Amino acid sequence: MSNVASANTDHKIPDHIPPHLVADYDIWVEPTTPPDIQMAVVNKLHHQLPDIFYTPLNGGHWMVSRMDHLRKVVTDGATFSSSGASTLPNPEELPLPPQDMDAPDHMKYRKVLLQFLAPKDLSKQAPHVLSLCNKLIDDLEGRNSCNFKEEIAVPLPVSIFMAIMDWDTSRIREFVSWSVDIISSNDPAVSYAGMLKLQEFLSGEIAYRQENPGDDPLSLLLASKVDGVQLTPQRVREMANLLFTAGTDTVTNAMTYFMFHLARHPEMQDHLRGHPEEIDVAVEEMLRRYSFVNVVRRVTRDVEFEGVQMRAGDRVIASLAAASNDDRWVKNPEQVDLSRGRCPHVAFNTGPHACIGAPLARLELKIFLAEWLRRMPNVKLADGFWPKQRGGAIMSLESLEITW
Ligand code: HEM
Repeated sequence: MSNVASANTDHKIPDHIPPHLVADYDIWVEPTTPPDIQMAVVNKLHHQLPDIFYTPLNGGHWMVSRMDHLRKVVTDGATFSSSGASTLPNPEELPLPPQDMDAPDHMKYRKVLLQFLAPKDLSKQAPHVLSLCNKLIDDLEGRNSCNFKEEIAVPLPVSIFMAIMDWDTSRIREFVSWSVDIISSNDPAVSYAGMLKLQEFLSGEIAYRQENPGDDPLSLLLASKVDGVQLTPQRVREMANLLFTAGTDTVTNAMTYFMFHLARHPEMQDHLRGHPEEIDVAVEEMLRRYSFVNVVRRVTRDVEFEGVQMRAGDRVIASLAAASNDDRWVKNPEQVDLSRGRCPHVAFNTGPHACIGAPLARLELKIFLAEWLRRMPNVKLADGFWPKQRGGAIMSLESLEITW
């Protein structure tokens, strides 16, 4: 998933939208002071604006922020389509199966990915994840500060992804730089160039696996069939491209938000160090509190949704940050409260498109947090540091300077 800035241009308000449901809301807004972006989003969407409204900004779209509305939108693919609704930078208009597909094809392609992303297949990755976490923490020895995002949160998911794909991990620096260009650059040209480099690599790697098949994910994809027809190398590249972009920066963001929280809450670091059995709950509760994806759908037919008239072709954006922090759904949502136990959230969305990489993300986040707390003393934000917060389809922190 990526976060390339879309032009924040004004857009003519379509006739079917009543004036009282129009508000200027910009998903790219970037608060420069506390609170964090999730709470800024919640304050605006839940306390200042209607539950469902239309913004003319960023090409014009409906905005949905409540948990019950989100659930209705994302479980009704016939009315709210994923096709053509993606926000990824897209050289050659590359399709992104299965994310931009609807039923029935969506499930067929999703099943193909489950060959290597199902939880039972991931448990064998745990030792890799553990050793990569420890290697990165080793590199901090003798220091008392770091840029957590750049030094830990970016390389860790990229190297884990490369190991899963059986790619040459000695090229980690190149992959990290593509990932940073594609995902973190605000300049569409830089992002596009990074995407082209990734495509070139994927094409070469796929050609190699065609000649030298193994039991790695690309070989499995190349050998897979949908409706009895073998996947083409082009289709395999589209799927691998989605996996890389969806499966690396998201974990980076989650790790960075987790550390942003912990660095401001030393009592939670102490607590988890004394109660490592609560790390699973802490991961879920921080995923909930710091949900950061805005999902996009396109309306397929004229429809009245929750009393609001929508038209075929309208875009709908649902804020998962707002839905996971919906006070009609969870009490005191702004608090990371481990006593809630496992509070359901939508950091990974819900419905047929719910994140297929969630088991891998959880594995990485839990192992990382346990190792970090086991090996590191309490950390805090560097003196005077407050991160630059990014809005957009994927909200993120530009960097995170911590000390210990
Ligand atoms: C904390 C980390 C992650 C978060 C917060 C996250 C979030 C999401 C969300 C919200 C969606 C739904 C998009 C929509 O409904 O339009 C999604 C879909 C997806 N994610 Fe993740 N993701 C994470 C990690 C991963 C990882 C590690 C992978 C794979 C290696 C991955 C692969 C995918 C794929 C392939 C889809 C499309 C699924 C479909 O359309 O059926 N994600 N993710």
